[in-house]
Order: sequence, then C-alpha cells, then structure tokens
Amino acid sequence: MNKRKIVIAAALLIAASVSAQPKLTLQVGNATRSVSPTLYGLMTEEINFAYEGGLYSQLLRDPSMQENVQMGGNRRGQQQQQQAPRPTQTMRYWLLADTTSGTIRFAQNGGISFENKKSININLTKDGASVVNPGFWGIPVYPAKRYFGDTYIKGQGRATVGLRSLDGSKVFAQKEITLNSADWKQYSFEFTTPADAQRTKDAQFFITFEKAGNYSLAYTTLYPESGKQVTCKSNWFRQDIMDLLREMHPKFLRFPGGNYLEGNRFADRFDWKSTRGNVINRPGHRSPWGYWSTDGMGILEFLCWCEEMGAEPILGVFAGYVLSGDYVVGDALNSFIQDALDEIEYTIGSTSTKWGAERAKDGHPEPFKLTYVEIGNEDFFDRSGSYSQRFTQFYNAIKAKYPQLQIISTQDERALRGNSVDPQGLKVDVIDEHYYRNAESMYRAAQQYDSYDRNGVKIFCGEWATREGKPTTNMNAALGDAAWMTCMERNSDILVAHCYAPLFVNVNEGGMQWESDLIGYDAITSFGSPAYWAQVMFAGNLGDKVVPIQSEQIPTMEMGREPVPQLYFVSTRDTKTGKIYLKVVNGGATAQKVNVAVEGQKVSGKAKVITLKGEGPLDTNDIDHPTKITPQNSQLKVSSNFVLSMEPYSIKVVIM
Ligand code: AHR
Repeated sequence: MNKRKIVIAAALLIAASVSAQPKLTLQVGNATRSVSPTLYGLMTEEINFAYEGGLYSQLLRDPSMQENVQMGGNRRGQQQQQQAPRPTQTMRYWLLADTTSGTIRFAQNGGISFENKKSININLTKDGASVVNPGFWGIPVYPAKRYFGDTYIKGQGRATVGLRSLDGSKVFAQKEITLNSADWKQYSFEFTTPADAQRTKDAQFFITFEKAGNYSLAYTTLYPESGKQVTCKSNWFRQDIMDLLREMHPKFLRFPGGNYLEGNRFADRFDWKSTRGNVINRPGHRSPWGYWSTDGMGILEFLCWCEEMGAEPILGVFAGYVLSGDYVVGDALNSFIQDALDEIEYTIGSTSTKWGAERAKDGHPEPFKLTYVEIGNEDFFDRSGSYSQRFTQFYNAIKAKYPQLQIISTQDERALRGNSVDPQGLKVDVIDEHYYRNAESMYRAAQQYDSYDRNGVKIFCGEWATREGKPTTNMNAALGDAAWMTCMERNSDILVAHCYAPLFVNVNEGGMQWESDLIGYDAITSFGSPAYWAQVMFAGNLGDKVVPIQSEQIPTMEMGREPVPQLYFVSTRDTKTGKIYLKVVNGGATAQKVNVAVEGQKVSGKAKVITLKGEGPLDTNDIDHPTKITPQNSQLKVSSNFVLSMEPYSIKVVIM
C-alpha cells in the first residue's frame, strides 16, 4: 500500500470508529421545559442516630436519664417492661468509673420537671469517686474549644465536671462547681480545652464528687461551641455535618419524617407542641427506630436548620395514622387537624397570631417561608382505606385557612396516576412517591417519567435511594442515583422536588438501622459517600430550562435479565448566564468516548469538567478513608462538536 492509500484507510477507520461512538446532540434552541426551582432538597428523620449522636450537637448519651438496665431480674420482654422500676436498676450510660465506689440507681419519679421525671440516685462510699458518660461512641475533644452545659443535682459539697481520657488518666478540661442544695438545683458550667489539646474522640464526660455521700443527678447536657456566628441556633447543630449539607445546595428540607412523623403508637408520634422551649420541658419520645429521642431537635430547630441552609421546609404533619396500623377519622381527627393548623401558624404566622407569637417567644419573630405541607407519610400502607377521608379533612381545613399552600398527598401513586384527583374526587396538588431500589432497577427506571402526562398531578419524590453499600453507599449506588437523577432533572416540569433517604448514619456498631445512607459520621469525623458527591455535583450545577438531547448509538451493558443502557445523560441551561450544563453517567466497566454536538448556541473555549469515578462499583468512602472518592475538576476544550471521554464507572458534569 502506498502512503496515500494508508492515509485514506486510516481516515476511513477513524471515521468508522467515530460513527460507532455514542453521540449526544444538545438541542439548545428547543430548551423550553422549565426546571423546578425546588428540585433538589433533603429529607430527614430520627433514624440511624441522625440527631441524637448526629446533627444535634448535644454530646452526652441519655441526658434525660431514660435508659436504665434491669439488674438481677429474671423476667424478660414485655412483662419486664411493664414492671415498676425496681431499686436494683442501674443506668446504661451513666456509670461509676470505679464500680466499687458505690451505686447508681434509676429513680422514676424524682425528676426536675413535669415532663422529665427521671433521675438517678448516686450513693458514693468513697471520696473522689466519678460518674462518667461515654457520649455517643465517644466525645470529641478539639484544641481551644469551649464547651458548655447544665446539670441538675441534689447534694452538698464540691464537684468537678469535665472531659477526660477513657482510662481517666488525662483530663482535657474541667470546671469546679459547688453543690449547695438538698433540692434540685441547676448548675451551668463551661470549660475550654487548651490550645495544645490533642484532637480525639476517645474521651468521656465526668462528674467527680469530692466527698462520699448521697447525690441525685438529672438532665445533664454538654454542647461544644459551634465557632460559627450564632444566627438561628447555630450552636445546636454539628457544624462539620452542616457544612456537608450546605454543599448540597438544598432548596428544601422534608421533616420530621418518614416513620418518625408517625411513631409506632399515637404517644410516639412527632408531637410538635411538646418539642419547644427549654429541653428539660420536652418529654422526648421513642423513635420508631428503637432508641430514645430527647426532642432536642424540635420544631424550631428544624425550621432554623432550614434557615441555616437557605432551604425552606416541606412540613410533614401528623395525619392520624401510626405505624401499628391504628388510625382515627371523623371528629376524632379534629384535634390533630388543629395541631397541624397551629404548626403551620407557628411556621408562617405573624407575631399577632397566637402561634406566631409563641414562635417569637421561642426566639424567632420572623416567619419562615412555606410552600408545601405533606399530609402524613406513606399512607399507602394504611390498608384500612382511611387515608382518603383523613386527607380530605386535612386538605379542606388547611386550604380554607391557607389557600396559597400546596398540599402533598402520600396516597398510593398507582391509584392517582394521571388523575390529580383522589378517589373521593378531591383535587390533589402533589403526590409523594418513594423508591428504594438497587442499581440495576435504577438504570431500568431511568426513563420512567419521560412518558408521564405533562398535565397530570405534580410529583414529589420524597424518598428514594439506590441501596448499594452499607452503612454508607458505594460507587455503584452513586451511579444508579445519578442515572435516576438524570430522569428526575429531565422531567422536572412535572417532578417538582425530590430528596434522598436516609440522609445520615452514625457508623458505629449499633448506630445503623437502615443501610445505604448518604452521610456517615462518628463522634468527630463526618464524610460524604460517593452518592452524596453525585448529588453535590447534580444540585450545584443546574440551569432553569431542560435542553432536549437527541442520542444515537448508546451502548448497552449486560445486567440481570436483559441489557440496560450504559450511558445516562441530561442537560440544562441557565437562561440568565447562558451556561449549559451537561451531565453524563457511565455505569459500565468500559470507557466510552462520547461525541457531543451543541446546536442552537455557540460554545467555545475551555469548559469546566467535574468528574466522580471509582475503581469499581464497590469502591467507596468510609470513616477511615473519608475522601477516597470525591469530585475532581479539570478543563476540556469545547466547540459545536467535541468528544467527552467517560472513564468506566464515572459521572461527569460539563459546564460550558
Ligand atoms: O427512609 C427510611 C424509611 O423508609 C422511612 O422512615 C419511611 O418513610 C420509609 O418506609
């Protein structure tokens, strides 16, 4: 072959391989479909030690003295729980450092407030004995950190409170207090660690009593100073976790659940009115996820949490149905409807309203913003069929007083598909759909909303996750999530909002009740899973119009029963800046060169490319490798035709 023929053959070969490559044509001129301004948000509830031992920065385990252990008993289960507490009971998290220095006993009726009747009686037989608390799998010690707290004690003499190493040999910081009351007395304290203190979570809280004798101890708290300027309860929130959340650019926070809204029994629901004010006046309740919630994260804290993130609440109101299947309808529902109306007034009412004034008394005179109220949670589990009636009662009452609010139904989406009217003929503003799937199912569902009626009921995907990896998600989950997000973003004219669940997990043994969570932490370190970073990339790079994409030659990958596409994509454009965002997901093990054509807008110069990739689907971040997989920035020369290289198992955002 002569030189000319070789060149022609090579050119033909290249042309052939280029034409076999996947191609995406961005039709910018046809970008008319609007992106919902509330598309990306967060969902939260007390699960996986989300607040206690998580976002709520109070550091002591069992501050309200709930968790006692039966000693020497031989009855088990239900029968035992119903027994009156016996004098042999001791505590699970309030312990004597030296077990030979006396006894600690649970006292059921000796507390400091009507709402918090529990306390402990301490009988010390040795001088200088210490009561210790382990925190939530440790207590974080930072250099030059101010800590503050309160304790309620009956007793006389000198005591020292502070933080020390687990064996007690090293004191990090402490404060002496003088006890001088035979009755309950509050002692506020603070201490600061020295500038050269070592950062560690291997610390315990202690109260050392100078003299042997009898003491009683009730509600005891310890908070680290946040270091942030206090705006709306900044000290209340663990700031490293707040920083991770802010990076997600959430537009809303759906709270307080999830199952946590409902509770196992009526008494265990999220009863917002009892979650206000001083923590000693909040009775707390058991989370359906099995552990005690002090309700330190109460209604105002949730609202302030929204404010601190620049998000607005999606307020879930209790709708008269609990997880055991118990429900009320008709007149019996009226008090719960009134509670919901009051909760809305507390959120958005002016200070001249009853509950707006209460909010001001709690420290926040300005009303919060509210667009969406959700009636209940997952009421498609209510097989009694009572939801339609319960929903109707709530809907009518809320719309009568607040016609501007959008009401979200949790009715089974299949019953409503395409109707926007519930079985009783009532108009539904939005329905909440939940999807927990594996990566394969997410890939198969990645076109789900493309065929939905554009004039049908609006959708809120209020819980979803690709459940791969535990306790936090792995790269496989991130890929499934990203594929699913391309679908939600492309269809955000009808899908008005979505949020992943669950958001948090304390990764210590015993911390997790639900696998595949977005953000993990222990007492001192927090990290985002690969799926977290996929959301940061998607939510932080979003236009206001969807750019239609014509795709050609999309490869498939073998998976389960039949192949699925290997590439997923979506594009949006910001009308104000003219910026185009292209997101591409490669779920497969082979690299792909994607030809990108941009029509209807001239693009040139260097685009920013953000890449998230793993060495394989199981690759992940964990508490010891918190930043193994994080987004990396690079640049790419773009024009009306360019090639985007997609590495195996990668997610890319191109900003041009
Ligand atoms: O996200 C965990 C749980 O899943 C939620 O509490 C509940 O709404 C759903 O079933």
